[in-house]
Amino acid sequence: MDDLLASAIAAARLARGIHLYYQEKGFAVDTKTGPTDLVTQADREAEAAVKAFLLERYPDHAFLGEEGGQDHEAAYRWIVDPLDGTVNFAHRFPFFAVSIGLEVRGRLELGVVLDSTRDELFWAVRGRGAYLNGRPLRVSATDRLIGSLLATGFPYDVSKDRENLVYFERALEHGLTVRRPGAAALDLCYVAAGRLDGFWEVKLKPWDVAAAVVIVEEAGGRVTGLAGEPYALGNRYIVASNGRIHAEMIEALFTEASG
Ligand code: IPD
Ligand code: CA
Ligand code: CA
Ligand code: CA
Repeated sequence: MDDLLASAIAAARLARGIHLYYQEKGFAVDTKTGPTDLVTQADREAEAAVKAFLLERYPDHAFLGEEGGQDHEAAYRWIVDPLDGTVNFAHRFPFFAVSIGLEVRGRLELGVVLDSTRDELFWAVRGRGAYLNGRPLRVSATDRLIGSLLATGFPYDVSKDRENLVYFERALEHGLTVRRPGAAALDLCYVAAGRLDGFWEVKLKPWDVAAAVVIVEEAGGRVTGLAGEPYALGNRYIVASNGRIHAEMIEALFTEASG
């Protein structure tokens, strides 16, 4: 795993270089599924760079990236979001990252998330703990939902998929504090770092979460679906927390009677 981790970190640094270059120089912006679903030159170039770097080193590995789709199948599969937080990036709101996860025979084993503007490198290898710039990461010790700090995110066109508005409203009705930072991979890393106590979102894609799920779990946190069932990549719902507030969070936000 050491070589794979070093490669993932090197690839993340390449992507960060591309993010920072385009923040400085300016970039072209296109839309994808609608006017609020953006993609920039930086997303595409960062993905091409990460893909070329990893596949040159590991030609028999598979690669799934947000902007390029999937190639073939293999025991080892890199799952990459070349720029998580594109809308933030496009507005120069400094909260975006590159996310590189590695799945081995269907199990997430390694994750690297690099916050481009802060140069904060989060990484974890299954069974070896989670780290931020070399220091061990631990989730928060908060054990009550009230007073905890939560985060969520919304799909690009929330008017077409309003489900998370229901959960968001429930959170506010319970008097909870909720942020919407805009980069799911980083939001999850903030749970791992104890900066957030919990996070949930609906409809995230594998590349948003593959790396950060390992980081949260290795930092002592819990990642499940809406009813506390184990989370599997590609599931519609994800709930992550420090573990201590998990049951209360599920009860307050996702249990019908609590609305
Ligand atoms: C998005 C971000 C955002 C989340 C969206 C994602 P992108 O990813 O992670 O926080 O709310 O659901 O699609 O498009 O910026 O890579
Ligand atoms: Ca993303
Ligand atoms: Ca992205
Ligand atoms: Ca996107």
